[in-house]
Amino acid sequence: MRYRLNVNRETREVEAERGTPLLWVLRETLGLTGTKFSCGVAQCGACTIHLDGTPVRSCVLPIEAVGRKEITTIEGVEGPAAAALQEAWEEIQVPQCGYCQSGQIMTVISLLDEIRRPSNDDIDGALAGNVCRCATYPRIRRAVHEAAAKVGGR
Ligand code: FES
Ligand code: FES
Repeated sequence: MRYRLNVNRETREVEAERGTPLLWVLRETLGLTGTKFSCGVAQCGACTIHLDGTPVRSCVLPIEAVGRKEITTIEGVEGPAAAALQEAWEEIQVPQCGYCQSGQIMTVISLLDEIRRPSNDDIDGALAGNVCRCATYPRIRRAVHEAAAKVGGR
């Protein structure tokens, strides 16, 4: 079937079978490989994207469920929170292997939209479903605090 998707503020037409996970379409059809495939069963967060601004697991989202909702991937993030997070991630050199990091960032962008100065508990709670096998959690926390300070003022 043919689907018309709104991806990173552009309309994209794709051919896919009903039931195809959005993650497959993003990576294989559209070449947006910043979003990662890991567990495939909504347990690790590597495939996190935003759907109308809300973080969702694209590995379990069938393409027909997307409709005209706005899909944002790591390649399309913008705004003060996203910019501050990307800067903080670089400054603090958060990633180790890097595999989980786009999912982590997608989740914390939403966190900063909701809570301007999140506590460690807020950060841990928001990221409870984003697994990092390299255990970069302490650097992620520092980077989120750094970005929150930049966006919200010290
Ligand atoms: S690959 Fe989607 S949650 Fe793990
Ligand atoms: S940086 Fe390696 S899995 Fe998170």
